[in-house]
Amino acid sequence: MGASGNGIEVWPGPMEGVASAEFVRAANALGVVSRWMTPFIRLSSGVPGKRKIEAFLAPFLEGGVPVTAQLMGTDAALVARAAELCLGLGAAGIDLNFGCPSRRVVNGGAGGGMLRDPERAAGFLDAVGKALPGVPLSVKMRTGFVKFDEFGELFSRLRDTGAARKFFVHYRTVKELYRDVPFRNARFDRIAGIASGTPLILNGDISSAAEAREIVGRTRCAGVMCARTWMRDPFLLRRIEGKSVPDPATGRERFYAELLRAGVGGGARIELAKLLFGADDPHFLELVGR
Ligand SMILES: Cc1cc2nc3c(=O)[nH]c(=O)nc-3n(C[C@H](O)[C@H](O)[C@H](O)COP(=O)(O)O)c2cc1C
Repeated sequence: MGASGNGIEVWPGPMEGVASAEFVRAANALGVVSRWMTPFIRLSSGVPGKRKIEAFLAPFLEGGVPVTAQLMGTDAALVARAAELCLGLGAAGIDLNFGCPSRRVVNGGAGGGMLRDPERAAGFLDAVGKALPGVPLSVKMRTGFVKFDEFGELFSRLRDTGAARKFFVHYRTVKELYRDVPFRNARFDRIAGIASGTPLILNGDISSAAEAREIVGRTRCAGVMCARTWMRDPFLLRRIEGKSVPDPATGRERFYAELLRAGVGGGARIELAKLLFGADDPHFLELVGR
């Protein structure tokens, strides 16, 4: 499993706070992903116990597809220890989060905070790589801390460590959060030019199979990653892989039904109804009593 018919490598974007065990089980039941990247495990003062990591990874592993565990931290030794645990429990690879824009995370120097200082980011990546020889290690990053122009230096330094086998690049900078940014495609082209020769997965507002194919054809990147856009079309990832799948409206209904069957309730159900159907839709309005 995993390889798509048309050669495009398609990844579900990790979504902390959304990808609960119930969510992951519903996605597995419908077979809508051919690989997983978990949301980040944050390592600030220590490594969670084996049982905790096992429980976190279990729903992802149950799907029978390769699982990349995403880690976030600033201490290479801690991150490497957590990585060993994840690999021992069945993860196929490790990804380092260099993109999370949450103020708390960034202020601690982790996630997107890594991109503030290319030298420190490269030193950290290098140290994690050296602690994990032979392990498939990747980096998921944004294009800079403040400005897109930072990407060239940032990427070169990270690549030159030789520690990461693959890069996932969300075209916005950390400071751009999730705002609308013009000329996304021009950014994708620049990113692909700079990353040329390195396996690259592009990410950000990729919402249809035609768009994904066009981006891969134009930039020659290895594949795409979709997060929020995948929620509006639960079979999007399979559609990009060239499979024949239900249309977005049918997909949303089927995924929602599966989420309820998997036991999603309370605030998570409200959030997911909003992500899937939008804030103007009866599925959401009913739940919030409007
Ligand atoms: C609710 C939410 C949670 C997220 N959690 C993570 C995370 O844990 N790790 C990560 O690398 N990216 C995380 N992201 C970023 C997405 O994976 C993705 O890079 C971003 O949303 C852009 O892609 P999209 O336009 O397809 O949504 C999160 C995004 C959202 C909306």
